[in-house]
Amino acid sequence: MGQAEPATESSWQTPPTPGWPALRGLMPANVRIGSAVDGKLLATDERYRSELAAQFNAVTAENAMKWVNLEPSPGVYDWSESDQVVKFAQANGQAVYGHTLLWHSSVPAWVSESWPRERIRELLRQHITTVVSRYRGKIWAWDVVNEVLAEDGSLRDSLWLRKLGPGYIADAFRWAHEADPDARLFINDYGTEGRGRKANGLLRLVRELRMAGVPVHGVGFQSHLRWDRAPEDATGNLRRFAALGVSVAITELDVRIQLPVDAEKLLDQALLYQHMLKACLAVSTCESVTLWGFTDTSSWISSHYPGFGAACVFDSDIRPKPAHEALVQELTSRRGTPPG
Ligand code: XIL
Repeated sequence: MGQAEPATESSWQTPPTPGWPALRGLMPANVRIGSAVDGKLLATDERYRSELAAQFNAVTAENAMKWVNLEPSPGVYDWSESDQVVKFAQANGQAVYGHTLLWHSSVPAWVSESWPRERIRELLRQHITTVVSRYRGKIWAWDVVNEVLAEDGSLRDSLWLRKLGPGYIADAFRWAHEADPDARLFINDYGTEGRGRKANGLLRLVRELRMAGVPVHGVGFQSHLRWDRAPEDATGNLRRFAALGVSVAITELDVRIQLPVDAEKLLDQALLYQHMLKACLAVSTCESVTLWGFTDTSSWISSHYPGFGAACVFDSDIRPKPAHEALVQELTSRRGTPPG
């Protein structure tokens, strides 16, 4: 067992798969390596479960903790899938990253914009309090708000902004903090990995929230990337967020390839995975790198980006791709070197 393994390792139930190295055994002790978890495969596929346990020391529920799935009808919560994810993580010495309390794309259909402001505010408060309280002490970090920015860096036009005004963001963080004072609270977004207008807007927002004493502890960079485009100065960008006194994390890394796949594209993809890992490891407050799924079987890419696929580090037969090897090589070459 590598020295970077957490003490909880003794609680493993699933032995690591032989044949290729486990990322979790190679990570520096203070940085987690995670994957999004597909609830269906977790319940049905033993090979999926065992590789997930072997490779990662953190997990994020890909969909199970989203509001739309947790509360299908008013006041009626279905915890079955999210509890399964937490249970699996605990059994395998993995930390759970909570995703997400508030996302414009996952508002239950029964929530109506015609309701008065106070009713909507109270509904949001209750939702956040209910979910965070249930998992108090079991979830190390929450994406409190997800994708609240527009492409130009201003606040996204959403039900929450229209009904509650910009203060809903600070409220959400305060309610989450009350419900679990020990959880790390993140603001998460996409298209902010590199320097640009949206990242500038996020930087301004985080600075304002921190100055107002809002308990924002970290910034998550989703990192849904294309194989042929690296973000503009990802390391420098992460550093300017860290300089605000917050943690940073790569929260949803995947690198989609325009089909058909070929060897050169797989190599470019591998380099981009490695590049994002390096960017995180170059920032002393980068807490984790999470892959948005680890096998091409379960990736969201083919259904959301027609013509693209093969975005993960394992293929659809759960065999490692060059991207997995690149991560392993990067980590192996750093073993014994002090964090940057
Ligand atoms: C995606 C899931 O991967 C899909 O299965 C689901 O259909 C839609 O949501 N940004 C996020 C994630 O914050 O929650 C999204 O996950 C991907 C984009």
